[in-house]
Amino acid sequence: MTRNYRQLLLCAQRARNLHRVMGGYVRPLFTLASYGHNRLIQQWKDTTFQFNGVRLYSMPIQNVSDREKQVVGAEVEKDGRHLVITWMDGVKSRYHSLWLRLSCHCPKCFQAASNMNLIFMEEIDSRTVLERASVSDDGLTISLLWNPGGHSGTIGLDYLRANIYDPDALATRHRLTTPLFLEEEDPIPEVSYEEVNASDKGTYKWLSYINNYGICLMKGVPTEKMKILQVVEKIAPVQRTIYGTVFDVVQESTPSNVAYTAVGLPFHMDLVYYEGAPGLQFLHCLRFDDTVKGGDTTFVDLLRVTGEFRKRYPAEFKVLTRVPVIFARIHSTREHPVHIVNERKHIEVNEAGEVVRVNWNPGTQSPMAVPEEYLDGYYDAYLKFASMIKTSPSYRKLRLRPGDLIGFNNRRMAHGRTAYEETAGGHRHLQGCYINIDEFKSRVQVLSLTVGDGSLAKRVFNGSSF
Ligand code: OGA
Ligand code: ZN
Ligand code: ZN
Repeated sequence: MTRNYRQLLLCAQRARNLHRVMGGYVRPLFTLASYGHNRLIQQWKDTTFQFNGVRLYSMPIQNVSDREKQVVGAEVEKDGRHLVITWMDGVKSRYHSLWLRLSCHCPKCFQAASNMNLIFMEEIDSRTVLERASVSDDGLTISLLWNPGGHSGTIGLDYLRANIYDPDALATRHRLTTPLFLEEEDPIPEVSYEEVNASDKGTYKWLSYINNYGICLMKGVPTEKMKILQVVEKIAPVQRTIYGTVFDVVQESTPSNVAYTAVGLPFHMDLVYYEGAPGLQFLHCLRFDDTVKGGDTTFVDLLRVTGEFRKRYPAEFKVLTRVPVIFARIHSTREHPVHIVNERKHIEVNEAGEVVRVNWNPGTQSPMAVPEEYLDGYYDAYLKFASMIKTSPSYRKLRLRPGDLIGFNNRRMAHGRTAYEETAGGHRHLQGCYINIDEFKSRVQVLSLTVGDGSLAKRVFNGSSF
């Protein structure tokens, strides 16, 4: 296979992925293949952000010659309550008159420069219906007239196509944002410090692994103090916590956390007592001498565990979605005393019953504060879940080496550590920090659009269903 041909195939693959996301807009792009690979990619990049007023799912390809052919018909239903668009590829989509009114892209309703709404629900009469709809000659927009109020405005067809909200389209979107699991035999995905530093593509590879599998090991990071900041800030500014910007995992005589001693740590997620617990956690191994006994790092994918738990113990699963537990960090003898108390469920689900967030940290869980009759059921469910964590096929254990930087989604993976002993002058030293989950997801999405395959970022278990 020649290099060019391979590149072309890669393009085709990207286009297909984008096609899946967009539901059919990309096909005309193939007609541009004769422009050559670089031109094509440039076009891709330019068009990605060129179009004002299109939200996340929209990645319009403009200036495509046979663009006007994309819509076969646009009809207002008799009562004016809906618009039905028939697209070239046979897809039919239906839009509510108020949905359309709120999506009006005229300058009165929408500020293109900031990509934000200027029209709000309470300014619209809830009886608003459509009077008229017509596709523009260039096939890029649809003009609409609403009554009462007599407002007329336009909406990009890209926008309408990208935001189809029928059950099939939503199911597709959901599928495309579903993360992957490591198979039983799969090692933790790895990237090298060099490749991540070399290009945005390398950075995207690293972050896609974390987004897909919840974890990625970076090898060959220089073992300099605070180097972690430089690497991790390729994503976003680090999320400062009560443990500082960067924390040192070493044995301390007056530890502010049990992690800063040599004891073993059970599976946990860090700082779940925060309203917004840190999103990603990174641990950079600066020193880990051979003479240190133990100190292995362990991981388990709680997303997988909750799935298995639900299947095996449906009643107990429900208990953990309903009984409130308290996570707290109360520590008055540290340099800056803290007193953080929050209530959560171990497993949070959305309307459809899907897991959207997990909260697990035995070390910071406070005494239960629920009526007595809940306790037996709760403790039973807790123990079953805890035992499934320990035996999950997603269990991974590794001994970090100097130069390793392990990164993981703290909303999805639980981590732990076996106890260790520093014998014969041996020493173990990790530096850690966090990244906000939204800023991580944003970075993955932007990189996917600019240097990646255009796919949607996967769900990150921050409470959101998409
Ligand atoms: C932590 C932690 C693990 C380790 O600092 O939160 O879990 O391997 N450390 O020391
Ligand atoms: Zn308008
Ligand atoms: Zn931890």
